[in-house]
Amino acid sequence: MEKSDVRPQWSSRMPFIFAAVGSAVGLGNIWRFPYMAGENGGAAFVLIYVAFVVLIGLPVLIAELTIGRRGRMSPITSIRNVAEESNSSKRWGWIGHLSSLGGGLGLLAFYSVIAGWVLAYIIKAGSGMFLGFTAADSAAALDELYASTPVMAFWHFVFIAVTVYIVGKGINAGLEKAVTYLMPVLFLLLLMLAGYSMATGEFLAALHYLFAPDFSKLTGEVVLNAVGQAFFSLSLALGTMVAYGAYLPKSISIHRSATLIAAADTGVALIAGMAIFPLVFAYGLNPGSGPDLIFKTLPIAFGQMPGGAIFGMLFFILLAIAAVTSSISMLEPAVAYFEERQDMNRWKSAIFGGGIAFLIGLLTVFTQNDLAEFHPLASFGIEMDFFQLNNFIVSNLIMPIGALLLAIFVGWQVKRNVLRDELGLPEGGIFAIWHVLIKFFCPVAIIAILISGLA
Ligand code: PFF
Repeated sequence: MEKSDVRPQWSSRMPFIFAAVGSAVGLGNIWRFPYMAGENGGAAFVLIYVAFVVLIGLPVLIAELTIGRRGRMSPITSIRNVAEESNSSKRWGWIGHLSSLGGGLGLLAFYSVIAGWVLAYIIKAGSGMFLGFTAADSAAALDELYASTPVMAFWHFVFIAVTVYIVGKGINAGLEKAVTYLMPVLFLLLLMLAGYSMATGEFLAALHYLFAPDFSKLTGEVVLNAVGQAFFSLSLALGTMVAYGAYLPKSISIHRSATLIAAADTGVALIAGMAIFPLVFAYGLNPGSGPDLIFKTLPIAFGQMPGGAIFGMLFFILLAIAAVTSSISMLEPAVAYFEERQDMNRWKSAIFGGGIAFLIGLLTVFTQNDLAEFHPLASFGIEMDFFQLNNFIVSNLIMPIGALLLAIFVGWQVKRNVLRDELGLPEGGIFAIWHVLIKFFCPVAIIAILISGLA
């Protein structure tokens, strides 16, 4: 087994849960979930997404935390350690390379651009400019942002810089504490916002849209998008949960913690949907308008409600914080790897990883105007702009493929008694159900979804 230093541990269950929920809850819930639901036809997508969270996401989350705690190192080395313990090939560690490097940095690249929009909206909301906003005003405000490449690049840079700074310093008690207080406030504000839009918007239409499925809308692509959203939202397949599992004390129950994390994450996404869609329908907006959905809808609500300037500013501040507690968890696995392998210290590793993400992300910035018509793979018949391509490669390719390989590794290579020992579960019952899911159901389902989605 490769060397393992005495590693720090979460002091108790709560800081771990908050860090993991902090990673899971982010733009994926409040920005991505509503627009993906809107683009994929609503309720059928939502139901499939929730089913995937339970049947695929939760088993993979349990698997990742288990590998992390057993391996006790960076994701790549943890997987190698566990492989070695089960007399399997250390080459399984390549799953970690794909996830941490390709996935983590690739995701950070565009995530931070969107987080940059959130930062820009803190100022817009606070200036009171949303007051009396109509749908047209809201669209115009967003166009103004899109028209300014330097402004978007600036906020993208600021967000990456904050992420690099926190990761460079190490995730200290300060951040852990801050998250512990701020996540509940975000949750509360989101609930208030949902309450407001249900009371003033088209609540029933939203409910119908989100929960009354029309299965004729299901296509292979919708199903692939739903599984991608489940992985994205639960922070899976990029090494994050393996890395966080490495700091878990042995006394904490992995399957119970994982269930709590998945429930909190899915709850926040559904509440975000209930906050956005009543407004979408009340103001005649198009639910399928894409990644700018919340930036078009929320300003209208903040513009109409009493105290909207303060409330709106606070909301975007908390959303930015939720984004940071996710972005640090994207950079961390790559930084741990650079530190371990490439003879770089933590600061250099963080700046290097953040720098790569910043440069790739600039292409997403340009996609909003100068490169809007640039479709890099058009000659292969793939009509996506750079941002769509980046999003697709990470969420719909790297995540499902990474999760598939991890499920095969855990289900077929890691010895059953190693898994049982680490999970602290007896044979039969929960363990047996989980093992069947990870060994048979997850690989078969993910392969089927990939094939039908890509075809
Ligand atoms: N789960 C985060 C969100 O919903 O915003 C995004 C994310 C973080 C995905 C970390 C993957 C990851 F490894």
